[in-house]
Amino acid sequence: MHVAHLTLHNFRSYADVDVALEPGATAFIGRNGQGKTNLVEAIDYLSRLSSHRVATDAPLVRAGADQAVVRASVVKEGRTALLEVELNPGRANRARINRSPLPRPREIIGLVRTVVFAPDDLTLVKGDPSDRRKMLDDLLVLRTPRLAGVRSDYDRILRQRNSLLKTAGVARGTSRDAAMSTLEIWDDNLARVGAELLGARLALVEDLRPYLGKAYEAVARGASRDDADLEYRASVDVGSPDQDLRTALLDALAVRRKEELDRGISLVGPHRDELLLTLGNAELRLPVKGYASHGESWSFALALRLASYDLLRADGDDPILVLDDVFAELDAERRSQLAQLVAGAEQVLVTAAVAADVPASLQGVRFLVADGAVTRDD
Ligand SMILES: Nc1ncnc2c1ncn2[C@@H]1O[C@H](COP(=O)(O)OP(=O)(O)OP(=O)(O)O)[C@@H](O)[C@H]1O
Ligand SMILES: [Mg+2]
Repeated sequence: MHVAHLTLHNFRSYADVDVALEPGATAFIGRNGQGKTNLVEAIDYLSRLSSHRVATDAPLVRAGADQAVVRASVVKEGRTALLEVELNPGRANRARINRSPLPRPREIIGLVRTVVFAPDDLTLVKGDPSDRRKMLDDLLVLRTPRLAGVRSDYDRILRQRNSLLKTAGVARGTSRDAAMSTLEIWDDNLARVGAELLGARLALVEDLRPYLGKAYEAVARGASRDDADLEYRASVDVGSPDQDLRTALLDALAVRRKEELDRGISLVGPHRDELLLTLGNAELRLPVKGYASHGESWSFALALRLASYDLLRADGDDPILVLDDVFAELDAERRSQLAQLVAGAEQVLVTAAVAADVPASLQGVRFLVADGAVTRDD
């Protein structure tokens, strides 16, 4: 797929901007802070209705405005669709496809699929487990849009269950009895929805593994296919392949009941899981976090994104690949290696402060980004 046209209104630093795009490679060049990332962020926002940079919509709306609009025409297997999202922080967002309103904005998720690699992605390997869970869940939702609902249901269940645990932990007598019986309902909810999320993550990690090894070999100099690996560490025992995840979660909840009541938080479920990233060989395998060098960590983060790209591509339509500010970090050899690797992508959007950093093969179409305007540089 590719974006053929992007229109922004009051999105980030842009009052109004209108850019015609083409398949193949496009480079956005401009000094720091001119709005390059803001452009690609808008396309990424359409794919999941959330930004890779912030957790809420408010910063996406231009300072002083109360609404932003992102509109893109997307070409997929020869057919064009016009997607539009209106961001209304504090109120409900609205989405339209081909000018028809959708009952729920969430229905737009998955129609555009993007994979973004940006320097912030170093947090994928160096950051908290929550950063890695988010990466998995974002990828899950792009592959299976229905899971966006499962994910938000799970978050809601967790919040309600945590507040109930706090109440039940301090309650006495009949109010405690009432809280404990309500807790059982929330245990069931957590186990049911949690099992769905957990099962999807476990399957995703298995699907991603072969692509990760290949991608790391391609981006890290001198690496081989088995160097990079990942392993899902669940907070419950998911040992046997036919393990009923729901039962496993319920059993684990029963075991930790007292501790949960004492601490007033849910200690079991996919929100406590870790995605372990490792580098090494048969003799020595070490976690990336805390052990890998800066260069290795960076290559690993890039490999995770490229593996995601390859996995989505294997599912069907090519996603849109965004390489935000990536080339400045690489030496000449690795620049051309990466350029070769992504050369076959249907659409690659590259941003850079300095044009010379971007390999010639990725400068198919070049735009200059300055003073709130995006102009084609032919
Ligand atoms: N909601 C907003 N309203 C107005 N301006 C904003 C908003 N959000 C971000 N900006 C401005 O947008 C600019 C950052 O744009 P962006 O991140 O796209 O820069 P960039 O061209 O990618 O720079 P770099 O090369 O440093 O990555 C900043 O100057 C910031 O103040
Ligand atoms: Mg930027």
